[in-house]
Formats: sequence, structure tokens, C-alpha cells
Amino acid sequence: MSNTATLEVNGEKYEFPIVTGTENEVAIDIKKLRGVTGGVTTIDPGYKNTGSCTSSITFLDGEKGILRYGGYSIEELAEKADFLEVAFLLIFGELPTKEELDKFYSDIKKNSIVDEDVKKILDAFPKAAHPMGVLSSLTSALTAFNPDAVDVNSEEDMYNSVVRILGKFPVLVAWAMRKKSGLPLDYGDKNLGYVENILKMMFKVPNEEYTQNKVLVEALDKLLILHADHEQNCSTSTVRIVGSSHAGLFASISAGISALWGPLHGGANQAVLEMLEAIKEDGGDTKKYMAKAKDKSDPFRLMGFGHRVYKNFDPRAKIIKVAADEVLGDLGVEDPVLEIAKGLEKEALEDQYFVDRKLYPNVDFYSGIIYRAMGIPTEMFTVMFALGRLPGWIAQWREMRLNKEPIGRPRQLYTGPTERAFKPIEDR
Ligand code: SDX
Repeated sequence: MSNTATLEVNGEKYEFPIVTGTENEVAIDIKKLRGVTGGVTTIDPGYKNTGSCTSSITFLDGEKGILRYGGYSIEELAEKADFLEVAFLLIFGELPTKEELDKFYSDIKKNSIVDEDVKKILDAFPKAAHPMGVLSSLTSALTAFNPDAVDVNSEEDMYNSVVRILGKFPVLVAWAMRKKSGLPLDYGDKNLGYVENILKMMFKVPNEEYTQNKVLVEALDKLLILHADHEQNCSTSTVRIVGSSHAGLFASISAGISALWGPLHGGANQAVLEMLEAIKEDGGDTKKYMAKAKDKSDPFRLMGFGHRVYKNFDPRAKIIKVAADEVLGDLGVEDPVLEIAKGLEKEALEDQYFVDRKLYPNVDFYSGIIYRAMGIPTEMFTVMFALGRLPGWIAQWREMRLNKEPIGRPRQLYTGPTERAFKPIEDR
């Protein structure tokens, strides 16, 4: 294959380098396009064809349904690793040795206390506040309580920021949940594992001992791994572009939380459960909702279906679907919406509209069913997505800064009014 691409514009030909990644993906490097053509740019709404960066963290192949973190398949990691190991892999590029992992968790625990004044910010929110808005605000507030900016060129400084946010974020997640339930804020127990402690902080009630449930621990650990990173998705791209102005790590992650909140992105897991509940209330009439999803005049979409990259199947959805059966079985939970979800999936996979558009269940389609069986409120589902995605956001932010990437500033194609003289108000 030639290692250059030729572009012809207004009769002039221009050559651009072709770059190839380690998985043989091919890209045209157009860094010099505007300069050599005297101002010609490209336009690509939603960046469906445009790479924003090179990255060595996560690889996915949408046609083959492949997802790998640092070269390790999501199937193996979900089966054999635990969430902190995966967080270490994503952020530092290698699976940790036992000593590295023990030190990592020990340093995280040392940083898992949140300044008491943060509770005053939490108190100011109404109980009805959506926990994603609470989480985004409290994460941004961490900057105020941890003012030292990150010197990304200092390995020690960067490491300290990583363990600080991995220590404090789960506390904010638990507090956001307890704010809604009116339970006193809890710190859990530093003698527990990372995921065990998250569950205790979320669920412990004041007047009884909290008993760990191995099924919940394993289910949450697996779900967090499956959500940990996903290359340049909407929220990760947000974290990278905010960080590209050299805004701090906490501020960048706060912006990522807001992007994830949208129902077309991480907010879909909450929207899936609301949709399945509506179908259940409607007597399980899945055909009515399939028709709505295909009706161009109806804004309704089949939530949890479709993906910008996966055009065959989302490997995470396959794993979560199996886990949903296992977890509900282990917990002895009968949830009618699981059967509705399976029925909907079967119908969609056989429907020409969905087949033509390569729409398959994505990571959000079944995850909410497990969260609900675990006793997590629907409004907290996207917060759980954020909890999983945190190491990915950190890893991508760190890579962008270490690669000294320029500030993100896309171009545009102007289509507004051409120059015109100002008209005094009496003449308008
Ligand atoms: C996540 O990017 C990531 O990696 C994200 C994520 C991650 O880990 O970070 O994987 C997590 O965000 C998963 C996606 C969760 N969102 C949902 O489940 C919401 C429902 N799905 C969609 O809104 C949609 O599929 C997107 C947003 C996920 C992808 O949208 P695209 O790639 O921009 O595709 P599109 O909107 O251009 O749709 C192409 C066609 C259109 O029909 P036509 O105009 O060609 O006739 O497919 C249709 C769309 O109307 N379509 C759907 C549909 N999704 C796409 N029709 C009905 N129901 C749907 N869900």
C-alpha cells in the first residue's frame, strides 16, 4: 500500500502521509492540510471519520466486536482480573505485580478521606437533585480542597493525583446515593477491598452490621471492569479536550461526568430501565415500542441499542447479558423486565430496520437490570458507569498531557450572513 494519500482540490494535487497503527488501522495525517492548501479544512459532524489522537490505551474493532485494554481482551480481564488491577493497567500500561497492586491500594486508602466541608456542598443540593449533577459538582469541588495542580512531568505528582481521585471518588459516589436516601454519610472500612468498601459505603445502614454479599462484589467488580475505558467516546473526548487547555484532572473529570450523563451516552442505562418499565406497564407490548423506534416522526429511540463503533455486537453486552442471568439467579431475584429485554433484543435482531442499520444491544442494555437486582436506584445507574469509567478518564487525560498534545480547537465551515453594515435600531 502507498504510504501517502493524494487529494485534489481546485485542480491542485496534495500528498498526505498515511499512518498505520499497531492493529493495522490506517489514517491519513492531515496536520498540514490547511497550510498547504491555503485554508481548506475538512468537516465531519460527530467526528465519525476523524481521529483526534493516537493512543496506546484501548483498542476496539467495531466490525469484529473486539475490545482490549493494553492488549488484554475484555473477556479475559472480566473473568480473571479485578477492577483495581485493570485501573492500574489502563493508567500505567502494564498489569501490576502483587507488590505494585498492594502499594497502589494502600496509597488509594490513604487518600480516601474527603474534606468535611465538602458535606456542606452536598447539603446544599435538594434531595431531588440527580446524582450525576451532584457527582459532577462535588468532583469539581475537589479541586478547591486539593489545590495543587498536577505537574504531569513529575511521575510522583501524577501518581499522587491518581491515587487521590481513586480514593475520594467512590466516597462521593456513595454520598450522592445516601443523599437521596437520607442515610448518614459513611466511609466504610479501609480493611475491606476496594469494591467491598464501595458497596459498604453505599449500602450500610446505621443500626445494623453490613454483611458482604460475594455475588454483589463479583458482579460490581465485573461491571466496573467492563465500563473502565472505551477509547475516544464522548465523555473521554471531553476529558481530553478540557485537559488539553491544562485544566486540572478533577475539573476535566467533572466535565466528563457531565458528558456521560446524556441519555445518548452513559445516561442510556437509566433510560433503558425506564423504557423497559414503560413497556411492562404497557402490558409488555414490545411491538409498539419497536414501531416508535422506527418511526422517524417519533423522537423515541430503542435505548441500549446501537453504537457509534460496534456494528456487529458490543462484546461487553454479551458478557453483561450472561452475568444478568447469573446474578439474578444467585440473588434469587425474578425481574420481569429481564424477560422483556430478552424479547426486545430477539425482535430487534430479526427486524430489517435494525439489521440494515447494524443496531445491536450495547453495554447499557442489560447493565441496569443487574444494578437494580443489586438494590441500586435507577437514578444511580449512570453514576455507577462513571465509577467504572474513572480509570479510563484518568489514563486518557494522563496520556494526552504526557504526549504534550496541543489545545483542542476544531475548525468550522461558516454558513452565516456575509459582511453587512450596522443598522441603527430606528431603521430596523
Ligand atoms: C455508550 O462511544 C462509546 O464508546 C460509548 C460507550 C462507552 O463505553 O463510552 O459505548 C457507551 O454511550 C453506548 C451507547 C448508549 N446510547 C444508547 O443506547 C442510546 C440509543 N442509541 C443511539 O442513540 C445511537 O445508536 C448512538 C448514539 C449510540 C449512536 O448513534 P450514531 O452512531 O450517531 O448513529 P446515528 O444516530 O447516525 O444512527 C444511524 C441510524 C439512524 O437512522 P437513519 O437516519 O439512518 O434512518 O440508526 C438509527 C438512526 O435513527 N438509530 C436508531 C437507534 N440508534 C441509531 N434507531 C432507533 N433506536 C436506536 N437506538
